[in-house]
Amino acid sequence: MSSKENDIEAGSRNPLSGGRGAWKIAVIEGDGIGPEVTKQAIRVLNAVAETFKHEFEYNYCLMGADAIDKTGNPLPDETITTCLNSDAILFGAIGHPKYDNDPTAKVRPEQGLLKLRKSLQLYANIRPISTYSSLFHLSPLKSKHIEGVDFVIYRELTGGIYFGKKETAADGSYALDDCTYSREEIERIAHLAFQHARRRKKKLTLVDKANVLETSRLWRKVVQELAPEFPDVAVDYMFVDNASMQIIVNPKQFDVIVTENMFGDILSDEASVISGSLGLLPSASVGKGSALFEPIHGSYPQAAGKDIANPIGSILSAAMLLDHLEMKDEAQVVRDAVNWTLLNSFVTKDIDPVNFYFTSTIGELISDFVCGKVSGPVNNENIELRKSTII
Ligand code: IPM
Ligand code: MG
Repeated sequence: MSSKENDIEAGSRNPLSGGRGAWKIAVIEGDGIGPEVTKQAIRVLNAVAETFKHEFEYNYCLMGADAIDKTGNPLPDETITTCLNSDAILFGAIGHPKYDNDPTAKVRPEQGLLKLRKSLQLYANIRPISTYSSLFHLSPLKSKHIEGVDFVIYRELTGGIYFGKKETAADGSYALDDCTYSREEIERIAHLAFQHARRRKKKLTLVDKANVLETSRLWRKVVQELAPEFPDVAVDYMFVDNASMQIIVNPKQFDVIVTENMFGDILSDEASVISGSLGLLPSASVGKGSALFEPIHGSYPQAAGKDIANPIGSILSAAMLLDHLEMKDEAQVVRDAVNWTLLNSFVTKDIDPVNFYFTSTIGELISDFVCGKVSGPVNNENIELRKSTII
């Protein structure tokens, strides 16, 4: 199958294949549950390809603990090259407990991801936070607070304290991590966030610590200067300590949040629990190079290989990937399929520890929905036997 000519013309991005062949997707399965959830996302992408007559070419590459085990390097050069030559990157998860409690480790899986973000200049991490009424009971917040919650966090991803000068004194008596931001680094992500707010509820909140930090004062200045270009977007400013409280007490007030790297890392994990399961949430990292799509959950090593992890975060990341490649209808079908499984209680163990379905069964159900094979009632008995979903 080849990509439809008009699909490509309709998109703002042409595939590297020049519109003649397949969309090139770099696949980094990574660590822990990464491989098994990514496998289900690919199954769903294949269902999309079949239904909409697209072609996806997958190029697998290594990163993280898996890459260290196999090559000694958390981000082999081939991975960077493959990613640079792709239309998009699908990534699973990173991290292994053997590195977490060893502060002296010289090589760490996470270095791979940080280097990839920097190499591809993926400066904006986008994390949508939405809720599902069928899962309200799982949220640590009361239903009345979460009904209608729908916001998106724009986290700066290639600057700030993550990438500043790092040093530890030779005698171990002190250590430092510098935090620097340039005007340009702030402007480019603020632009994206303003544009997104314009397409949504037209509200942008800059989260910073401008009462204490110079970098935050620069963020505020730059955002204030940009605001007149977006007169239809209401801008407000919130200190990060207050924001962390507001996300819990009144998450409905937010539309688009923009913030620096470290604050965004922390706030996006905090916000992710609102929906009831960390396993559901996708993310996109965009910038100058090919964009990367990954579920926000970690590598969850305790569940690895057991077929119990929730593949929906990865599947919805694939939906964001389709959106990014301007396949809007395709992305919507995947989202409809996910909603259908949740409404019918076809869920993994994190959502229902008693009556749960396997990772692979959820992937199969969602793929069947995308292919239009699921139209009527579903044979639960067969699903439990993991055979077939169709009567
Ligand atoms: C994330 C993760 C990473 C980060 C780690 C794995 C380096 O927590 O994507 O949010 O801190 O950015
Ligand atoms: Mg994080």
